[in-house]
Amino acid sequence: MKVLVTGGAGYIGSHTCLELVARGHEVVIVDSFANSSRKVVPRLEDLAGCRLPCHELDVRDEAAVTRVLAEHRCDAVIHFAALKAVGESCEQPLEYFANNICGSVSLLRAMRATGVNKLIFSSSCTVYGAPDSVPVNETAPLRVANPYGRSKLVVEEMLGDVARADAKFRYASLRYFNPVGAHPSGRIGEDPRGIPNNLMPLVCQVAAGRRCQLKVYGGDWPTPDGTGIRDYLHVVDLARAHVSALEYLANRDRSLTVNLGTGRGASVLELISTFERVCGKAVPYEIVGRRDGDVAAVWADPSLASRELGWTAELDLDAMCRDAWRWQCENPDGFDG
Ligand code: UFG
Repeated sequence: MKVLVTGGAGYIGSHTCLELVARGHEVVIVDSFANSSRKVVPRLEDLAGCRLPCHELDVRDEAAVTRVLAEHRCDAVIHFAALKAVGESCEQPLEYFANNICGSVSLLRAMRATGVNKLIFSSSCTVYGAPDSVPVNETAPLRVANPYGRSKLVVEEMLGDVARADAKFRYASLRYFNPVGAHPSGRIGEDPRGIPNNLMPLVCQVAAGRRCQLKVYGGDWPTPDGTGIRDYLHVVDLARAHVSALEYLANRDRSLTVNLGTGRGASVLELISTFERVCGKAVPYEIVGRRDGDVAAVWADPSLASRELGWTAELDLDAMCRDAWRWQCENPDGFDG
C-alpha cells in the first residue's frame, strides 16, 4: 500500500516508516518539523535504501494535505503528528486541542475529499488515567486527567463517529504504553528538545554524564520496590504493530481500538538496574517526591492485539536499554549535534 505518514520524521513515525518499507509498502512523509529534525529524512532514506517523498507542512493545512494525498494516490494514513508532553498540555491546553484535535479534523476532511478511508491513530494508555486494576484491557474505564489525554480521547471518539457516518471508513486507534529504545542501527532514535520528560532519555543522559543524577519520582508508591511501574515497549516492536494494523484494515471489514504493550511492568529501579547491567554504566539516582499526575502502576493486557493483529512484542527490556544507549552514544546531541 501507499501510506501517508504524518509526523513521519518523529520518534515513532520514523521507526514506522522503516518497518513499512521493509514490508514492501510505499511511504510518503508529512512533517512540520516543529518537534523533529529535517536530518531524519536522509538517514531514513539511507536505512530504507529508497527515496522517501517528504512534504513539510502542518496537518492543519487541509488544502495542502488534500493535495499530497491526491498527488501520491495514498491508500491509507498513519497519523502521528501531535504534541505529546503532558505537563506542557496543562500549561497550553489550547495548543494541544488545536494541534491534536483540529489537526485530526483537517486530516479526516482531506481524507474524505480524496477518498482515502483507512486511518491508524496514535492514541495512548493515558486514556485509562489511574486504572482500578492491572493489567489494563481495552474495556477499562476511560478517565483522562490532562489536556493531552483529553485530546487523544476526543480523537478516538471522533473516529467512532466518522466510522458510523461513513460505512467505508476504517480506523485503528492504537493505545501505546511506554515506547522506548531506538533502531538497532543507532541512526534514528528519540531526540527530545530541551530537558527530556521521560525516563529512558533521562537515564541515557545521566549515564553519558550530561546530568549528574536521575531524580526518581517517589519511593513510596504501593509497588514492591516503592517506585512507579510502567509497561516499557521497544519502539521497533511498536512500529511493527502499525504495519500489522495497516494490513488488518486492508483485509478486515472493521475498525479496532487496541492496547500496545508487552504485558509486563517494570519499576523505575528495575529499569535503572537493567540499564546498568546491559550498558555497563552507572546511573546515579536520588529518590525525591512524587511527580504531579503520576500513577503507581500501569501495564497492558495486550491479548487483544495478539488475537486481532497477530502482534506481540518480541524485544525485552535488555534490548530497549541496549538500543537506547547505542543511540545516545552515537548521537550525543541528537540529529542536529
Ligand atoms: N520517572 C522518574 N524520573 C524521571 C522521569 C520519570 O522517576 O525523571 C518515572 C515516572 O515517575 C514514572 C516512570 O518513570 O514512574 C515513567 O515516566 P515517563 O515520564 O517516562 O512516562 P509516563 O508513564 O509518565 O508517561 C508516558 C508518556 C505520556 C503518556 C503516559 C501515559 O510519556 O505521553 O505515558 O500514562 F501520557
